[in-house]
Amino acid sequence: MCGIVGFAGHSEAAPVLLDGLARLEYRGYDSAGVVVCDGKDLNVVKTKGYVEELSKLTDGGKTLPGTVGIGHTRWATHGQPTDTNAHPHLSFHGSLAVVHNGIIENYAKLREFLIGKGYAFKSETDTEVAANMIDYYYDDDILKAVAEATRRMEGSYALGIVCKDVPDTIIATRKESPLVLGIGDGCNLLASDVAALLRYTRNVIYLEDGEIAEIKADSVQLYSAELERIEKPVSTVDWDVSAAEKGGYEHFMLKEIMEQPDAVRKTISPRLKDGRVVLDGIRLTPEYVKNLHKIYIVACGSSYHVGMVAKYNMEKLVRKPVEVALASEFRYCDPLVDENTLVICISQSGTTADTIAALRQAKKLGARILSIVNVVGSVIAEESDDVLYTWAGPEIAVATTKAYSTQLAVTYLLTLYMAEICGTVTPEKYDWAVRELEALPEKLAKLLDNVDQIQYLASIYFNKEDIFFIGRNIDYALSLEGSLKLKEISYIHSEAYAAGELKHGTISLIEPGRLVISVASYTPLVPKTVSNIVEVKTRGAEILSITTEENAADLAKVSDNMIVIPDAMDLFLPSLAIVPMQLFAYYVSLMRGCSIDKPRNLAKSVTVE
Ligand code: M6R
Repeated sequence: MCGIVGFAGHSEAAPVLLDGLARLEYRGYDSAGVVVCDGKDLNVVKTKGYVEELSKLTDGGKTLPGTVGIGHTRWATHGQPTDTNAHPHLSFHGSLAVVHNGIIENYAKLREFLIGKGYAFKSETDTEVAANMIDYYYDDDILKAVAEATRRMEGSYALGIVCKDVPDTIIATRKESPLVLGIGDGCNLLASDVAALLRYTRNVIYLEDGEIAEIKADSVQLYSAELERIEKPVSTVDWDVSAAEKGGYEHFMLKEIMEQPDAVRKTISPRLKDGRVVLDGIRLTPEYVKNLHKIYIVACGSSYHVGMVAKYNMEKLVRKPVEVALASEFRYCDPLVDENTLVICISQSGTTADTIAALRQAKKLGARILSIVNVVGSVIAEESDDVLYTWAGPEIAVATTKAYSTQLAVTYLLTLYMAEICGTVTPEKYDWAVRELEALPEKLAKLLDNVDQIQYLASIYFNKEDIFFIGRNIDYALSLEGSLKLKEISYIHSEAYAAGELKHGTISLIEPGRLVISVASYTPLVPKTVSNIVEVKTRGAEILSITTEENAADLAKVSDNMIVIPDAMDLFLPSLAIVPMQLFAYYVSLMRGCSIDKPRNLAKSVTVE
């Protein structure tokens, strides 16, 4: 969703801001803007449209001289995407400008308060309210004004502020919305996401809730919310700039699909030592794990689908009840969670608003929180008792692929780890599972050699307007993800069903020529799925099956086309079966001329409810 960039240096700010905003485009947005201090004035340019348009309007930044500035990409919440509602917002008296991510929940009350004090507003946004709140408290100390104003704001915010009277400085602060500072050589930067900084520096400081930063070309000073000076360590990001570039691929999505063997290897290998799963970073004691009454997995979208796979695997191997909940439902369903419940939050971005809210609620109820997160220092990572990072690297395409695969990999590790503690896995099965895990990246790489067949299948089916996915058990969990991948980027209507549910309603939608993709990798239930395939085939459906070498002969009898994945231990089959579905969605969308990396209406990280 919204993105923030800031630059204070000895060279021109505008080109850096435009470049940084372009690198945040993947987050999804509908308007963009920058403000640069030329030493005297704050010059703002903003537009309903893309960064390219902003670049044209400013001649690549040349019309905005000055070495300090902030920029923003806005995903509309309060007010339509218009030039006026785009950030930055100047305060009523024109002395300061603000960019903002998040939602100020009490903005209506604050707006009324400010109107009572003689303020007028140009936009419908909560951000202009923030700008004027700071203006209201501004005397001649901008730090103090920011501290006073934010004390009165409820909700979430990451703020970048520039002020005419201190033209060499950016002030930044945050609450529940990420902000990271880039420590450069002769310049310092600010961004909502490290992807915007990598070209300039890999040395970063993650700002925490309530902290305030004063950023100048040659210094960064940090303060607590009470304006006491604080020191924080500088971390080094181990992604390099190429990780956030296309590297010769037409789309980030294809690049990220191809990166999966490596990402899964990086996520698994350091956690397998001498044939054992070693989860050094977490502090779940064996007693705690043994005494757990329940595991709750909470997530949204594809991360929720990972949770579905994990439920099947954990219940099978750890023999504890596992509930999977959509974070947006969990937070309002009065969940049965207590100190004997482990709540696992899964999130690529670590900033998904519903998952954050669910985490906090579960914490309040006494549960221990373990999160599976890709972005280091993100809100979910910071607020969890334990974190298992996925080492997927930056994922830019909105449709998740490598983050999904690495999340799956972490759930496998956790499942084995807990099963060993609980004594619910035999040593033979455990050893076999570890060997299979070690072999997984290789099998993934082999699968990715099969791109031509998937391209061919996409060319047969890309004109379909309704596609159904069916499967049982882990194959049902996979069907949900396969269907989401397809619909989010190709805009084809698609549904996923537990194959056994077809007869309870959905089968009425099957008519001649309807494409049904059957996922049939889980051997114990393949005969059952085959029966369901026959039911839809009899009613005229075309069948594309995804199955393993072991089950290929049975599926061949009932399928029009087949994709065969390597055999593997059933726990890990989802990692293999998802790859052809990702590629299928990609090529179908390519053939339909869709905007693959940035599908309409979607944002990479959903930071609002
Ligand atoms: O960052 P998160 O994993 O918390 O995001 C959750 C969903 O928004 C996300 O998985 C979404 O469904 C995918 N981008 C779809 O490909």
